[in-house]
Amino acid sequence: MTTNHLARTRAALDGVVNSRTGQGLVASGMIDALAIDESTGTATFTFLLRRDDPATLVRQARQALIDAGLPHPRIQVTDPAGPPKTTHAAPQSAQAGVPAPTPMEIPGIGRVIAVSSGKGGVGKSTVTVNLAVAFAESGYRVGIIDVDVHGPDLPRMVGVFEKPMSQNGRIIPLEAYGVKLISIGFLIDRDAPAIWRGPIITKILHQFLHEVEWGELDFLLCDMPPGTGDAQLSLVQQVHVAGAVIVTTPQEVSVGDALRGAKMFEKVNVPVLGVVENMSGFIDPVTGMRHDLFGSGGGARLADELGVPLLGQVPLQAGLVDAADRGEPIVIAAPTSAAAVILREIADAVRHQVAASGVALPILE
Ligand SMILES: Nc1ncnc2c1ncn2[C@@H]1O[C@H](COP(=O)(O)OP(=O)(O)OP(=O)(O)O)[C@@H](O)[C@H]1O
Ligand SMILES: [Mg+2]
Repeated sequence: MTTNHLARTRAALDGVVNSRTGQGLVASGMIDALAIDESTGTATFTFLLRRDDPATLVRQARQALIDAGLPHPRIQVTDPAGPPKTTHAAPQSAQAGVPAPTPMEIPGIGRVIAVSSGKGGVGKSTVTVNLAVAFAESGYRVGIIDVDVHGPDLPRMVGVFEKPMSQNGRIIPLEAYGVKLISIGFLIDRDAPAIWRGPIITKILHQFLHEVEWGELDFLLCDMPPGTGDAQLSLVQQVHVAGAVIVTTPQEVSVGDALRGAKMFEKVNVPVLGVVENMSGFIDPVTGMRHDLFGSGGGARLADELGVPLLGQVPLQAGLVDAADRGEPIVIAAPTSAAAVILREIADAVRHQVAASGVALPILE
């Protein structure tokens, strides 16, 4: 019985070919510590996924086992080269003479993912909020830090305007759509001018990372302000960032800015997980035809240039702005819309990229 399961499992896994090696997953040496539960036939194994392997292989492996009539496997994905964090170069501080702190792991806050771009208004906050809600819908424990202390958009985008409570000197994060949230927008008056200088941003971020009662999270998404300034530096200096998602529009100018934004993360050895092209054409709801209003192909060009995957192209979505202004992310307001479907696919792709970059994710079945 076990041998049978074992043989079938190995055969199914070898039926999935890795384009890098031209061989099946077992023959490619990607399956380690394969064990079969005798009573159920459930396979447990470690998937050794290199950074230059397609992250979709994990999903294909899972599907191949299911297609072969075997139970859902338990897969731990790791990078045989190990996580990239040990090579973290401490970036120079924006303030000359201030030594850059060494980024650290903060227990409990899970994988920190920065959603960034070089340019304003391309959809960072939209992507952050929708990815977070999509993660939460899949059962992950998620938080968002609104790192945009000058123009905190998070409260409006999720329709939460309360002041967070504090308990035993710790801030209790607010919550919407199953996602825990913190933003300077919750703490100051809505119309107060938010003019902060570098050291204050560092302090606020430190407080958000260390003094908020996050509980146990799987992912902490950071909605970054545009550019490559103090906030980006401060984040990568203070915490180990598992990866950055770069948002761009299809236009060339936005791509150039995004490239500079992405390079900044690469310089400090934060892996760029991939590119999201937002406002990528408009799909006519009547004819279903796609119109490229802002040019096309920018996301793919940027991804190519960075050698990272294009995680998805989110179309301009009618009603998204109104829904966002009502505090409803599009994955909630119009869950079957093209934008919502693609944003959920992007959430899956981000999870795979994080796993592929060497940090094991919890197994959710
Ligand atoms: N795919 C989309 N379809 C339609 N509208 C969109 C889309 N993505 C974002 N928007 C709208 O575009 C505007 C800018 O988006 P968003 O605030 O997410 O950008 P941002 O990059 O976070 O901006 P900032 O740099 O100011 O923080 C918002 O009004 C948002 O609702
Ligand atoms: Mg924003």
